[in-house]
Amino acid sequence: MDLKLEIANSIAAACGVAADEIAAAIEVPANSDMGDYAYPCFKLAKVLRKAPPLIAQEIGEKLQLPVGISEMKIVGAYINFFMDKPFYAKQVLQSVLEQGADYGKSEKGTGKTIVIDYSSPNIAKPFHVGHLRSTVIGNALYQIHRALGYHCVGINHLGDWGTQFGKLIVAYKKWGSQEAVEKDGIQELMRIYVKFHDEAANEPALEDEARLWFVKMQDGDTEALTLWKWFYDISIREFERVYDMLGVKFDAYTGESFYNDKMAPVVEELEQKGLLVESEGAKIVDLSDENMPPCLIIRKDGGTLYATRDITAALYRKKTYDFDKCIYLTALDQNLHFAQWFAVIHKMGYDWYQDLIHVPFGLVSLESGKLSTRHGNVVLMEELLHQAIAETQKIIEEKNPSLPDKETVAQKVGIGAVIFNDLYNTRIKDVVFSWERMLNFDGETGPYVQYTHARACSILKKVPDCKTEDLQTASFAKLDDEATLQVCKLLEAFPSKIEDAAAKLEPYLLTRHLVAIAQAFNKFYHDNPILNSADDVRFARLAVVLAVKTVLSSGLALLGIESPEQM
Ligand code: ARG
Repeated sequence: MDLKLEIANSIAAACGVAADEIAAAIEVPANSDMGDYAYPCFKLAKVLRKAPPLIAQEIGEKLQLPVGISEMKIVGAYINFFMDKPFYAKQVLQSVLEQGADYGKSEKGTGKTIVIDYSSPNIAKPFHVGHLRSTVIGNALYQIHRALGYHCVGINHLGDWGTQFGKLIVAYKKWGSQEAVEKDGIQELMRIYVKFHDEAANEPALEDEARLWFVKMQDGDTEALTLWKWFYDISIREFERVYDMLGVKFDAYTGESFYNDKMAPVVEELEQKGLLVESEGAKIVDLSDENMPPCLIIRKDGGTLYATRDITAALYRKKTYDFDKCIYLTALDQNLHFAQWFAVIHKMGYDWYQDLIHVPFGLVSLESGKLSTRHGNVVLMEELLHQAIAETQKIIEEKNPSLPDKETVAQKVGIGAVIFNDLYNTRIKDVVFSWERMLNFDGETGPYVQYTHARACSILKKVPDCKTEDLQTASFAKLDDEATLQVCKLLEAFPSKIEDAAAKLEPYLLTRHLVAIAQAFNKFYHDNPILNSADDVRFARLAVVLAVKTVLSSGLALLGIESPEQM
């Protein structure tokens, strides 16, 4: 039901001007006392050669109200339209209840593939809060696109290859031990890696040794690869603990090492296409015509680089998945890196370079002093998530100590709060961690939306005999108040918000819409008695409650957040 179009058709019939022209001028008044839609007659003055208020009068006399509009008021040059609230509520609520968890989903992306490169931490290094954003935004974009019918391929492009692993092998052989690495995992690997850098400052020969070990890795040397694989496994085990907590999964863990044996033909292709030039012993692609520094492909010592692997990975992904879009989630400090190698793909003659999209985001900062950490400036993800859960536990103890299964709820709410906080603003804005703000049950937060969902669940539980079918066929005639109308408008807009979030690659458009629904619902709940109302009204209002519960829960799921039924 497109009311705007219906109104435009009626006006067109009354004045003889084309409906699409009229539709384009229809407004939604900021103040709903002025109606739900308004048509200003100014533009018609030229065509009809009359004063706008007179035109409004004349149209008003002739106009047939379309179905869905219950009233019209002429105010000066404006024709204001008021929606038939019960009629509208019925349309929206029935459609939500009929489709249930599928409401908002569509087939718009069917047949299209989107590759999403996200999280992608570096092995043997701690998974820090910076990687949180890539993980959380990437996962939300994955869920959002999947809901629109796209075939999604989630890839963890681990930083698991490069000279740094040569350094790590040297460091391990000199200052490490199997026991220590087994006991302390990534932390111990970090310790010896840092030591390598301290020592190499005075003893440059260490760097040569490291390069040699990386060359051995590239050539398939067993000892080198066994050590590397061990570091890899240890890292993945730690990362997976974090992914489990966040509820994030990947379709492929094809990190940089995966491309080791696939780079030579790509370098060859660059050579053949005349794109590689020698520069101080290295091989580069000149990008001066694009006003960018050159893209380094092969180092002086023969080693490949981050960009070499990204170019190779893009070609591999195009061949393997034939993607319509391949998106990359990293902090904005990698803007140049992506612009450079996208330009190389362009120069290679692949017009799909346009389907490679870097989706940058801002930094994470910590409200100083509020976030305890034993690790100086590096805040570990795992620690942060545990802290979120602990803080939530404290709040639950205070607010609802008799809640069953407190631990699970604290987990869902604490982690949900972290994710929600990350997705609340446009990506490029920095994220600030403030426990107080993130966990405020009355703020624009994850816990607030989850709490609203739980409230809806608890209302529904109080009417154990109410079945979805009964609610679908309730009498909606009494749903004629403003608060209900607002809830219904937001529910109706939900599917388009999912589409907007996908089109702009901005999950916050959805996040904020969920807050708006929660706020509108709480007003509805405050204004309208539900359980104590007359039979016919009660079921209609319970239909609102069920529809809101349904949409909040699917909306949260699209963001990667769970919705506990009680909290
Ligand atoms: N490992 C990189 C980092 O932590 C991110 C990789 C992003 N993906 C890519 N295909 N370059 O900075």
